Amino acid sequence: MAVDMVQKTLECFEKVYGDSKGAKVYFAPGRVNLIGEHTDYNGGHVFPCALSIGTYAAVRPRKDGKLFLYSGNIPDKGVTESRLGDFRPLKEDSWTGYPKGVMWAFDKQGMKMERGLDIAFYGNIPNGSGLSSSASLEVLTGYFLRDLYGFDVSNVELALIGQDCENNYNGMNCGIMDQFASAMGKAGNAIFLDTATLEYKYAPLDLRGLEIIITNTNKKHKLVGSAYNDRRRESEEALKQLKAVPALSGIKALGELSNEDFDKYAEAISDPVVRKRARHAVYENNRTIEAVAVLERGEIARFGELMNQSHVSLRDDYEVSCPELDVLAEEAWKIPGCLGARMTGGGFGGCTVSIVKEEAAEEFQKKVGDAYREKIGYDCSFYTPGIGGGPREEA
Ligand code: GLA
Repeated sequence: MAVDMVQKTLECFEKVYGDSKGAKVYFAPGRVNLIGEHTDYNGGHVFPCALSIGTYAAVRPRKDGKLFLYSGNIPDKGVTESRLGDFRPLKEDSWTGYPKGVMWAFDKQGMKMERGLDIAFYGNIPNGSGLSSSASLEVLTGYFLRDLYGFDVSNVELALIGQDCENNYNGMNCGIMDQFASAMGKAGNAIFLDTATLEYKYAPLDLRGLEIIITNTNKKHKLVGSAYNDRRRESEEALKQLKAVPALSGIKALGELSNEDFDKYAEAISDPVVRKRARHAVYENNRTIEAVAVLERGEIARFGELMNQSHVSLRDDYEVSCPELDVLAEEAWKIPGCLGARMTGGGFGGCTVSIVKEEAAEEFQKKVGDAYREKIGYDCSFYTPGIGGGPREEA
């Protein structure tokens, strides 16, 4: 599939720039998060993995200072032209705000692009699926800029630059998980990341006899950014009120609390809604730590139970699920060969992730698919993309 995608990306490039002589092709992956949702801006842990699907780019340096951007996924928008050094965020940026924002972030740090570029992007992450197509676009851009201009940055720094672009150029106040998973992905492994320190370790996913199935609600979601930013504000408010408790005055993030400590002091949070939000952040973080420990011991059934609990907490306490995601999770829980299922990513639409016994995969897709159509009125889609590596230049 990768070879095919490289070919298609080059064809996109040729369509708009004439020929592809001297163009290099690069790739960066999307991600799925197995557990640890809405913990990354609360100083907690996450457990995502990079996918074998993602975004490709064919890139060729120019002799002048012009920058041309094109996406084979949105051909109607045509080619956008801008100039190096002129990276102000514009209303009409739309998807180009991601590559331009990454260039802006490099520029801000004194890493200047000397010559312009002709770029054609082409990706195979389904649109709006919540599998981090924007993070893959950011990491991809950082990766080829580093390669073409010799910028001295590590992959972790590429992730941070991607987050800077997202937060400060595109106005989405996300955490570090998506960009980190894309920049640091390793085939066959999930990444156990402590977002408070950026310490991480790889956890091999020994899924013999099991499959990771991603199910897309195909819901077109809107206003995700504003609801997301609201949750961030509520988490900050909860932290502020907890820090007013003398015993907790030293904490820097909700991710530092045990469930017991939280339960003991929860009443210090005056608003019950804000209290629920904080309970999710604390419990989800501790659930994630436990999930990785049980996975290491091979207790996959317990891992699945924790995934289910994560969904319930996101649905009831954090309130970032939606009827479409709930139907997918609840129908998945009914299948005996499904060990665990939960919404993944920011929520309000996008996908669920499920761990399913291989022999039950067909039944899973049939039963969940039929129930979804009946209850929601249109089809969901299933993907089994596999756990891939991080960004790379294609041969
Ligand atoms: C989005 C954000 C991430 C993370 C998840 C929720 O994907 O980009 O930083 O907060 O939502 O876990």
